[in-house]
Amino acid sequence: MTKTSTRSKQQPTSICVSDAPRELRIGLVGYGFMGRAHANAVHQVAHFFGKNSPNRRVPVLQAVCGRDAEKLSEFAKTWSARSTETDWRKLVARSDVDAVDICTPNDSHMEIALACVKHGKMILCEKPLALDGKQGTAMVRAVEKAKLPNLVWYNYRFLPAVTLAKNIVDAGELGKVFHYRANFLQDWTISADLPQGGTGLWRLDAKVAGSGVTGDLLAHCIDTARWINGDITEVSAMTETFIKSRVHTATGKQQPVKIDDACAFLARFKNGSMAVFESTRYARGHKALYTFEINGEHKSLAWDLHDLNRLSYFDHSVNGDRRGWSSIHCTDGDHPYAGNWWVPGLGLGYEHSFVHGLHEFLNSLESPKAERRFADFRHALGTQFVCDAVLEAARTRRWTRVKQARV
Ligand SMILES: NC(=O)c1ccc[n+]([C@@H]2O[C@H](COP(=O)([O-])OP(=O)(O)OC[C@H]3O[C@@H](n4cnc5c(N)ncnc54)[C@H](O)[C@@H]3O)[C@@H](O)[C@H]2O)c1
Repeated sequence: MTKTSTRSKQQPTSICVSDAPRELRIGLVGYGFMGRAHANAVHQVAHFFGKNSPNRRVPVLQAVCGRDAEKLSEFAKTWSARSTETDWRKLVARSDVDAVDICTPNDSHMEIALACVKHGKMILCEKPLALDGKQGTAMVRAVEKAKLPNLVWYNYRFLPAVTLAKNIVDAGELGKVFHYRANFLQDWTISADLPQGGTGLWRLDAKVAGSGVTGDLLAHCIDTARWINGDITEVSAMTETFIKSRVHTATGKQQPVKIDDACAFLARFKNGSMAVFESTRYARGHKALYTFEINGEHKSLAWDLHDLNRLSYFDHSVNGDRRGWSSIHCTDGDHPYAGNWWVPGLGLGYEHSFVHGLHEFLNSLESPKAERRFADFRHALGTQFVCDAVLEAARTRRWTRVKQARV
């Protein structure tokens, strides 16, 4: 009797290899804010979603990449990554990596994504897709030509209350839509002492970020708006840079600030509705006040990130004496995603949006023809075109047509 057969006799209950779920081996680039949010999603998703599906792939953190070996090793230990790389070029070339998750600042998205295409990797890319529509177009062309599965992490879609809003609108319950309005307000850049450049603060450097609040915050609002209410056709905008120069961490010198600190824009949707969007990092007292409201002929819906499990709902068909705004706590088994977690009434948080996004991506691998709930590169390019048009409108002080994402 061989050693192997002895072992298999001693372990009759162990699963045979062919029953083991197929892994989706992820290579994560960047271990900052998003690196942590995504690593958490990779570990959580199979515990809560798709357990009983035989064709479902199970994501694993095959490798993580960052330039500082010490910090990288700490991150890899914390998040149980199987290996590390200090150069993303090596990571994307590895034959034991199936999908690359890009969690680096915006100026690196295109270069890493195009290298992924060259090596036949699936791509999950943080938002915004790129620095501008030109880069985004090249990325969409490459990834679609190579037929590689792709996702952009517009994560707010996957909060139960936001998905419920989408479902209600898709069911036609609002009737004709008249208005959409969204805000994303923060207050963390008011101090003139804050430098530009470096971890997190690369957002203040236009060369790295592409734009200020438009690409960073409004891009989220635009993605949600386009997902729920359809394409935006034209915009009129104003932007402001309140602090005109800041020390750059790379040079130690004062350098002009080229990002938009605040942006407000008006928009028209293809369905005839009109919109107002506003974002700033100078709204003292607001940390991440992302809100949206949509007003239709029969119903209105409103949502607030600071109370993210609730959807405010107004139904005009209710008898006049009982009619009013109600607050739906989206934590019941009937609500999107919620039934996979805890018992009714227990809330979810920001991190769950990434778990749900990854779940939707895995769904699409399992059933490539099913409707996609996530933003792929092409949808994200449409959002990029809106951002570009907003910045152009602010520059020219004119209404500006939005390029549509037909490549
Ligand atoms: N979906 C969301 O809600 C959300 C939230 C925050 C940030 N983002 C996006 O995620 C991306 C990253 O943002 P963040 O907040 O995590 O930034 P961060 O500054 O916290 O982290 C960026 C990481 O990228 C690493 N990095 C930079 N250049 C690199 C390179 N050449 N090779 C390897 N690693 C490199 C940095 O060392 C750092 O670990 C950005 O595109 C941002 O717009 C999305």
